[in-house]
Amino acid sequence: MVEVLKDWYIGPDRISSQVVVAGDEICVKAWKGQRSWDIHNKPRKFIDFLTDYFKGRDDLVGAEIGVYRAENLCSLNYHLKCKLLIGIDCWTDRGEFTDSHREIGAAVVDGKDEWNYLWMANSYLEAWWRTHLLRNVMLIRGYSVATASLMGQVFDFVYLDGGHMRKDLESDCRCWYPKIVKGGILGGHDWEVESVQAGVRDYFVDSKITYLGDADWYVVKEGD
Ligand SMILES: C[S@@+](CC[C@H](N)C(=O)[O-])C[C@H]1O[C@@H](n2cnc3c(N)ncnc32)[C@H](O)[C@@H]1O
Repeated sequence: MVEVLKDWYIGPDRISSQVVVAGDEICVKAWKGQRSWDIHNKPRKFIDFLTDYFKGRDDLVGAEIGVYRAENLCSLNYHLKCKLLIGIDCWTDRGEFTDSHREIGAAVVDGKDEWNYLWMANSYLEAWWRTHLLRNVMLIRGYSVATASLMGQVFDFVYLDGGHMRKDLESDCRCWYPKIVKGGILGGHDWEVESVQAGVRDYFVDSKITYLGDADWYVVKEGD
């Protein structure tokens, strides 16, 4: 018997998906919506800033840490000319979204933790649908610090929007800043969150950090 566990109809112009249970198997079916939110919404301040900063460049290499449904990743890709844009996310039971949805999940899935896994599986599928036809966009399912260790110093920009705890920001700055080329940009989201500011300030002195507004911040890569 196939039981439909949950429908996620996110909206007429968004990707919808359905979680089904067949016997012991749980799977998430996804299908593509007509258009996606990302490119039709106003870009974030970080994207506006990069558009200006990298004006004339059509060979950018960038990464977003914390992709979730790839809305901002697609917005980055739409507004900037990237020869390679990598989206890195663990898509598992971790991070601000899974934490904040734990209570909802407990109510919906009978107190079990499956909700969090299904929620993240669903967001991975959404991210995949959004990006799989974009030849310059690559998704990596992995933890930020571990994935950074595989990378060279090749990035013109990296946008941090993964873990939002103080230690996440400190470790993300520590492992991604060296991967940025001289004159490149490390930035991120949710500056108004106390733990985000604290973590960034654990790594950078205040005078290096610029706040762009609307929760976005950046530093310019100096040195080598
Ligand atoms: C705020 S959401 C990202 C939203 C996305 N940047 C956007 O604006 O559309 C945070 C994401 O970070 C991921 N995440 C949290 N900690 C992580 C880590 N240590 N490594 C990789 N991804 C992580 C979570 O799985 C979640 O999908």
